[in-house]
Amino acid sequence: MFVHDRPAWRLPERAVTPEAQWLDRRKLVAGMMAAGLLPAAAAAGTAKTGDAGPAGLPRLDARRTIATDETPTPLAAVAGYNNFYEFGLGKDDPARNAHRLKPSPWTVTVGGLVKQPLTIDVDRWIARAPLEERIYRLRCVEGWSMVIPWVGVPLAGLVKAAEPLGSANYVRFTTLADKGQMPGLRVPALDWPYREGLRLDEAMHPLSFLAVGLYGRRLPNQNGAPLRLVVPWKYGFKSIKSIVAIDFVERQPKTSWAMAQPREYGFYSNVNPDMPHPRWSQATERRIGEFRKRPTLVFNGYAEEVAHLYRGMDLKRFF
Ligand code: MTE
Repeated sequence: MFVHDRPAWRLPERAVTPEAQWLDRRKLVAGMMAAGLLPAAAAAGTAKTGDAGPAGLPRLDARRTIATDETPTPLAAVAGYNNFYEFGLGKDDPARNAHRLKPSPWTVTVGGLVKQPLTIDVDRWIARAPLEERIYRLRCVEGWSMVIPWVGVPLAGLVKAAEPLGSANYVRFTTLADKGQMPGLRVPALDWPYREGLRLDEAMHPLSFLAVGLYGRRLPNQNGAPLRLVVPWKYGFKSIKSIVAIDFVERQPKTSWAMAQPREYGFYSNVNPDMPHPRWSQATERRIGEFRKRPTLVFNGYAEEVAHLYRGMDLKRFF
């Protein structure tokens, strides 16, 4: 079992960046920088992998490629206030129950309409992949948000490695569904397994990211170990966790939340302050750790990078 390494995966030489001072945000690279547009020299040398990382989880050396001058949300909240219904519906259930998940060894299959089906041994892959660190905002549809330093690789590299056929228009992601490891599966809160999807051009966008870590360490189980999706301009529920399958398909795939409540959650799920959820406004959000509310930004603040993907689309209809 192996991953086909292809040139498209590879970044310029990896810059190893030890000893984070996570809370000294003044030292972070100011401003958002579009992935792929960032000169390597500007990116290198700022990422840190210090001891503030999740205790007991292996460290990951990564080159910082995207940052923000916003304060990263404290690790205790990132790993203690979660949605991961496979481990319970309460925000603190995943941190309490996710120790049952065995994230290693772990295999992800990449298939469907592709020339190169892949079987990824995640541990081997993490050891060899040119990891990047990206500090992204995560905006939950429930009205809270966080700023999280993820470690991972651009999703586009995996898409290119699989060589999708011309008929592949969408990518479908599937989470593990194992009752032995995931006590929440006994509750039919969602139609298990958890499923998500992206249009192929969304998956190819340089901001779309497969995270294997946060705060310089492997992902805590409750955050979706060993591999999860992060699509920063979409509501957090698109960030499917603990992925076991990635399939390229012709038609728009069914996604868990849209199946459960189609009036409330659409396939696109772009952060949109002008499009209220049927039961509440999306105009403001509360950053975890703050009291004040701040205005929700269109596409979660990433409009400059992604608005062109939706040109000509009525985003109230395709929500
Ligand atoms: N993935 C799976 N498999 N199961 C889930 O319940 N919840 C989603 C998303 N991914 C979820 C999931 C929701 S609603 C959110 S807001 C984010 O994970 C939360 O990610 P975090 O807990 O790492 O902040």
